[in-house]
Amino acid sequence: MIAKPSIPDVLTEPGAHIGRPARRVDGRLKVTGGAKYAAEFSTPGLAHGYIVSSTIARGRITRIDASAALALPGVLHVFTHENRPSLAWFDRKWKDEDAPKGSPFRPLYDAEIIHSLQPVALVVADSFELARYAARLVEVEYEAAPHRTDLHAHRDDTYTPGKDKGGFEPPPKPRGDADKALAEAEMTVDLEFTQATEHHNPMEMHASTVVHHEDGTLTVYDKTQGAQNSHTWICNVFDLPKSGVRVLSPFVGGAFGSGLRPQHQLFMAVLAATQLKRSVRVELSRPQMFSFGHRPETIQRVALGASRDGTLTALIHEAVQESSQNENYVEVVVNWSGQQYKCDNVRLDYKLCRLDVHTPLDQRAPGAATGVPAIEIAMDELAHKLGMDPIELRLKNYTDVDPNTGNPFSSKELRACFAQGAERFGWAGRNPTPRSMRDGRQLIGWGMAAGVWDAMQGQAVAKAKLGIDGKLVVGSATADIGTGTYTVMTQIAADILGLPLDDVAFHLGDSSLPMAPIEGGSWTVSSVGSAVKAACDRVRDRLVGLAIKMDDGPLAGIGNEEVILADGHLAARADPSRRVSITAVMRAAGLLTIEEEARSIPYYLARSRHTLATHSAVFAEVRVDEDLGTVQVTRVVSAVAAGRIINPKTAASQIMGAVVWGIGMALEEETLTDHTLGRYVNHDIAEYHIPVNADVHDIDVIFVEEHDDLVNPLGAKGVGEIGIVGVPAAISNAIFHATGVRVRDLPITVDKIL
Ligand code: MOS
Repeated sequence: MIAKPSIPDVLTEPGAHIGRPARRVDGRLKVTGGAKYAAEFSTPGLAHGYIVSSTIARGRITRIDASAALALPGVLHVFTHENRPSLAWFDRKWKDEDAPKGSPFRPLYDAEIIHSLQPVALVVADSFELARYAARLVEVEYEAAPHRTDLHAHRDDTYTPGKDKGGFEPPPKPRGDADKALAEAEMTVDLEFTQATEHHNPMEMHASTVVHHEDGTLTVYDKTQGAQNSHTWICNVFDLPKSGVRVLSPFVGGAFGSGLRPQHQLFMAVLAATQLKRSVRVELSRPQMFSFGHRPETIQRVALGASRDGTLTALIHEAVQESSQNENYVEVVVNWSGQQYKCDNVRLDYKLCRLDVHTPLDQRAPGAATGVPAIEIAMDELAHKLGMDPIELRLKNYTDVDPNTGNPFSSKELRACFAQGAERFGWAGRNPTPRSMRDGRQLIGWGMAAGVWDAMQGQAVAKAKLGIDGKLVVGSATADIGTGTYTVMTQIAADILGLPLDDVAFHLGDSSLPMAPIEGGSWTVSSVGSAVKAACDRVRDRLVGLAIKMDDGPLAGIGNEEVILADGHLAARADPSRRVSITAVMRAAGLLTIEEEARSIPYYLARSRHTLATHSAVFAEVRVDEDLGTVQVTRVVSAVAAGRIINPKTAASQIMGAVVWGIGMALEEETLTDHTLGRYVNHDIAEYHIPVNADVHDIDVIFVEEHDDLVNPLGAKGVGEIGIVGVPAAISNAIFHATGVRVRDLPITVDKIL
């Protein structure tokens, strides 16, 4: 008897790789130092730039004297607005992919200062240490003008931003009469929420290493979430031919919004390299990481009216958020409230306030991480007043259609998130009375909240090339900011062509690769993953087409759908012993490679008729020291519904990381401003607190099964941002349950609890 070739179960559908917890394909490179970041690339003769930053928030430079710096041997040049070359200074040239409405900041443009820490000079020297030292010798005199940096002092001086061409959706029109309904409601809460400015502080600081080649072309290693965004921006600003510049960012040491827009270190490095005709690196110091975008400070009001059975009768959510003088940075802060709960009388209002600060910037779940905590804390307060369980109140007002648009959700398994999260957490054992649970001097509190985030998609292109040796190379100009892009794209490609992960290489972080959007918004799996799938499907179809046409081949004449690919072979689904290797098929066809490119286009029709969103239910346990007011978040359960999960391991890491960030947002992170100087005072990570290991305990992630055929061909909605959204509210609600103290001002520091 002839043994059938064994094709293990795991290699049959639903796929050998998609949905499996593959280890990171780039893991070894990362832990052995083999992964190189923007500031780690070097070249002979590399010069180093160091930025001099403004000490005032608004005004003019009246004098710059760089003579002491220039007198040092090894200092090559000091660039200022007085000696910078003439460039393309028109606003539109400075518009990058993520630029909001307005006039982008242009470093060294003129003597005007529009925010503190604004770069005012670049010192270029033979060594980093020399450049840094010489930067201290550059004398800058200013004429300061009155500035405003205090959102609370100017909260009434606001404006309503118009619709942006970006992702910003203005709040929907009011429904019913929310103010009247609130006045008539049987039970109400009417609350103000405030939330501090936060800075991103990724592990890797922003840096650009520009290699200047003899022919004048540039290779730029940049810390960015979009190599093509940086590429287009440089070429526009410096009027360089696209073919003369290549931007690479193979590894990114965290970013989560901070790398969405090209930052001024990139401008400075390219400026110096093109002017000095030398290779130059500019890396920001940690304090200089506070010199560009941040999560904006926000003031919100949430007012809810309900009948005694918990039915919402009025919902008002208003937000005032800071933007800069030069750009209208907008987030979606209040719309979530109207989307998450069924209510006939809803008014949502969003306004901006101009301050003398750098334009804010997307930070993990921009808008939702700010707005959803407000509504979710308000819902907890309402539940407490009604004597209702917080989950029950949410279920009472649950909706399967998006009340903002009237459209159904393409899928929404939030009920399952509540149920599975509650089960895992042990929510049923909760005594609802505040201060009812303790362990010695520690008060124990349990709180929960819901989360929501968009399932977005952009256009992307991927190229796939299969070799006769059965090795596949796939590429798209996306990024991996630590999220696992390399790994999940490799899985998608390997799955379709039935290859082991080791036989697939995925390339990203290179502006010369096929087009991809900036990596943000949790849309990379959806956008780029769909393109990878489309390109690999084409390669598969060509390969299968060749196999079924092979004279006397084992698959001759069978239908395309009857062929499965596994282990580098093509086989008949009905009888896997009928099989042929990829190599044999390509040899018979006389092909060394099969190469295909494909573009993914969002399902516009589905999107116009459905709301596409991810959901979560977050449960938190805190222990609050009764005497000291210190808070430990001892347990978090996050149950997430995000469609199909391509890799439960990297996806769970995304959620865990976001929960840690949520702990920071709830308890620690705040950038403090000295409004007399208009200047951030804790601009380093000694004083800007982020969670450390001692702050992080049990984090349990559940992915709820959610089937979605409408969102994209993969059925995957993307994860990342959804992980943070419910966390600050769950922690705040748990602190109330522990202590009876309600804090509506993030971060919840000790002084606010005692
Ligand atoms: Mo994320 S804030 O979209 O990088």
